[in-house]
Amino acid sequence: MLARQKAIAILTKSSQGAQWTKHCFAVADAAVRVGLSLEPHRSVDCAFLWSAALLHDIGRYVTHDPVLHGVEGYKFLSARGHHKEARICASHILFGLKVEEAVQFGLPARDFVPRTIEEQVVTLVDFLIEFDQPTTLERRFSSLRRRNAGNPYFLGRLDRAFGSATSFMEQIEQDIGGSVERIVALQDQSS
Ligand SMILES: [Fe+2]
Repeated sequence: MLARQKAIAILTKSSQGAQWTKHCFAVADAAVRVGLSLEPHRSVDCAFLWSAALLHDIGRYVTHDPVLHGVEGYKFLSARGHHKEARICASHILFGLKVEEAVQFGLPARDFVPRTIEEQVVTLVDFLIEFDQPTTLERRFSSLRRRNAGNPYFLGRLDRAFGSATSFMEQIEQDIGGSVERIVALQDQSS
């Protein structure tokens, strides 16, 4: 597993400190807040969660395409042996890709659907942070629809992604007994 400082070094080197990395830090901190609130109910590896969340968008150093940045991140981290983190780069796209979608986009022929609690939390929290600011699922998906109006594939898949995100959020809110959107919106006291 990647230690925190190593993950930061990898992100900083490939991104050259680009503005989009603010999103990565915001997602990492918020994902851990959600992870900590889940810990009494489920076993969560918060150290892995933070590093994997930090690196989920690393493929943006190649492209900001809404699907292909996940593919590039997967290739980049796999090539360096960071397989668990690499899986999250691919599986956070649209709350998971089916095997035929993975093949279509140049990924190995298997599905990339977030299954572990850490994979699912990163994917959900990514949708709840617009750039580096907390938002709601409703607002984020409206914004994604507007920004991707010229991308029929992505647009056509957003409803399914919204359904998966909503159902996972409802599931963990039952464990937590509170709102995930509120936890994500809390100011991080540690930074
Ligand atoms: Fe992303």
